Amino acid sequence: MIADWKQVEEALKNVEVIGHENNKPVSVIGYAEDLRCIGIGTDAAVFYYPDTPNYAYKVYSAQALEKKEVEFDIYKRLSGSPYFPECYGTGDNYLVLSFEQGITLYDCLLQGVRVNEQVIQDVENAREFIRSRGLNPRDIHLKNVLLQEGRGKVLDVSEYIKEGNDSRWEHLVWTYKHFYPLISEVKVPLWILETITNWYNRIDTASFGIEDFSKRVSQLFFGKRK
Ligand SMILES: Nc1ncnc2c1ncn2[C@@H]1O[C@H](COP(=O)(O)OP(=O)(O)O)[C@@H](O)[C@H]1O
Ligand SMILES: [Mg+2]
Repeated sequence: MIADWKQVEEALKNVEVIGHENNKPVSVIGYAEDLRCIGIGTDAAVFYYPDTPNYAYKVYSAQALEKKEVEFDIYKRLSGSPYFPECYGTGDNYLVLSFEQGITLYDCLLQGVRVNEQVIQDVENAREFIRSRGLNPRDIHLKNVLLQEGRGKVLDVSEYIKEGNDSRWEHLVWTYKHFYPLISEVKVPLWILETITNWYNRIDTASFGIEDFSKRVSQLFFGKRK
């Protein structure tokens, strides 16, 4: 097993994760035999190494490196819950997490994979659990939830020590109830999802209503064409 760890360390050293301004997703450059990139976010890229199939390695960009210890400590406080990955340890610029099967809810929209209500309930339960550990559920959005055999798993716990409600999950629940039934089996094109995301990120979430926003999005992108 020790040999495996050394190999993984070597492999991870061959890839570079580069952060960008304005909340843009990281870039990944480099290559190592067998190492697979299984996801990216705005702070990190996540890798899988076949010799250690139960683990996923979350590698942070230099700009986001201070979040590594923060996230590690939060994982310790959430440990033992089925709603999150397990975190087993840290390396220089990465966390060792349990590898989680499944695709993100964002990918579900892209691929037209139906998300059932159980998943929403699982995330609600996860949020309760986060609060029960004295933490604040934040940053829970489509790319941070996995659909796993019909159940929800919440990724990316690094913001739970911040204050305030970013309302992202509440907005998603609202659109799930009122809008999702119309598109639940539609493969939504990437350009539409990205354009909606960018629009959402530019509006002042304190002063807009999700109802109005939803209506506009629905007409602009999903309205009837003659
Ligand atoms: N434990 C895991 N198992 C499998 N895939 C994961 C795991 N953690 C993250 N991912 C994938 O990697 C992506 C980025 O991870 P995330 O922790 O959200 O990074 P960031 O903090 O940069 O947003 C996720 O959207 C998901 O697709
Ligand atoms: Mg993320």
